[in-house]
Amino acid sequence: MHISITRLEKKLSQILPLSEAYQRSYNKLSEQYKSPEEMALYSRGYFLKKLWKMAEDNESVVAVLNINGTPRGFVRYSAIPEYYTAPINGQSRDMEKGMLDGFEFAWYRKINFERNIKLDKKTLIVNQIYIDPEMQHLGLGTHLLNRTIPELKKHGYESLIIEYNANNTNAEKFYRGIGFSAFATTQDFDHIIKKDGQTTFCISDVAIAHTTIDNAIASMRNKQLSKTYITMVQRRNGKDY
Ligand SMILES: CC(C)(COP(=O)(O)OP(=O)(O)OC[C@H]1O[C@@H](n2cnc3c(N)ncnc32)[C@H](O)[C@@H]1OP(=O)(O)O)[C@@H](O)C(=O)NCCC(=O)NCCS
Repeated sequence: MHISITRLEKKLSQILPLSEAYQRSYNKLSEQYKSPEEMALYSRGYFLKKLWKMAEDNESVVAVLNINGTPRGFVRYSAIPEYYTAPINGQSRDMEKGMLDGFEFAWYRKINFERNIKLDKKTLIVNQIYIDPEMQHLGLGTHLLNRTIPELKKHGYESLIIEYNANNTNAEKFYRGIGFSAFATTQDFDHIIKKDGQTTFCISDVAIAHTTIDNAIASMRNKQLSKTYITMVQRRNGKDY
């Protein structure tokens, strides 16, 4: 069993299997709080297109986790949006607009800062991190960050932020273990439900957490892949996985 980390490229041989892992991970997480109508939109093509766009995006970098040569997860780092860098009186806001469920939307997303955190060009946002469900909670997410965050430091970056759904307790525990702590809150426009002539906007609470890169590296230093994973590797070694 072999673990490797590679950069996302515009290659279908990499993007196709990764889109399947991404879809499984995203859908397992989202079906807990999204409507069946919205879930129906999250087809394989949706994730394929998303990954293809990420591979084309020069403003972000995606590191892919491969198990035995097959992509099973990824993390994406990008420059922080401008509205983080200049809060006024502990608040900032940004216009979000686009199409969702065939419905055009535009609304102001407000961010409430609870603490003064230095956010500048040396800060990146962890936009996405997804591990295939059957490979979760084995230490692989931590391993992916442990292998990639030191590379960011080499390029001069000093800190990271992450946004996560306030109900995603697994993600919250995960980020806490990496050294992140929440410093701001906001809300995300999730989807629209149209039923019986009524339109309901679904808005979810989001926490925003921060860590310095040095703190993340120190927090991860003693973490290892779990015993379950290591046993699994021994058991499955040499067999199809
Ligand atoms: C969140 C995620 C990336 C973490 O990666 P992972 O490989 O599963 O995490 P690790 O095995 O490295 O776990 C580290 C810690 O995270 C927490 N954690 C991860 N998965 C968990 C689970 N299923 N249940 C409870 N805690 C969990 C635990 O605190 C764990 O520490 P522990 O092993 O000492 O209990 C992964 O679970 C995932 O892809 N989840 C779905 C997508 C998602 O929520 N992404 C983040 C969106 S912002």
